[in-house]
Amino acid sequence: MPKIVFVQPDGSSVEVAARTGESLMEAAIDNDIPGIIAECGGACSCATCHVYVDAGWADRLPPPDPMEDGMLDCVLDRHPTSRLSCQIRVDDSLEGLKVTVPAEQL
Ligand code: FES
Repeated sequence: MPKIVFVQPDGSSVEVAARTGESLMEAAIDNDIPGIIAECGGACSCATCHVYVDAGWADRLPPPDPMEDGMLDCVLDRHPTSRLSCQIRVDDSLEGLKVTVPAEQL
């Protein structure tokens, strides 16, 4: 159960134990992380699960596929490390991953 750190816009953070095989979004929802709405339930069609991946981690994740990349164009404040958390699958290699929830989802 890799530990994932969710940071809020005010700098506070919560560490959760995610289950291998679930998405980062599911780990956030299971642990009541504020700011992750996930309106579409993980179908990559709402962009309300947007997170900013910590700079040190961004290159260690597989890049967004064209569908995720297209949805990321819909978020309010896209950064180079923006990702949709429903498209990131948890495995042991993500131990210690840190992501920040945006101040607003779209
Ligand atoms: Fe809707 Fe991720 S939950 S795009």
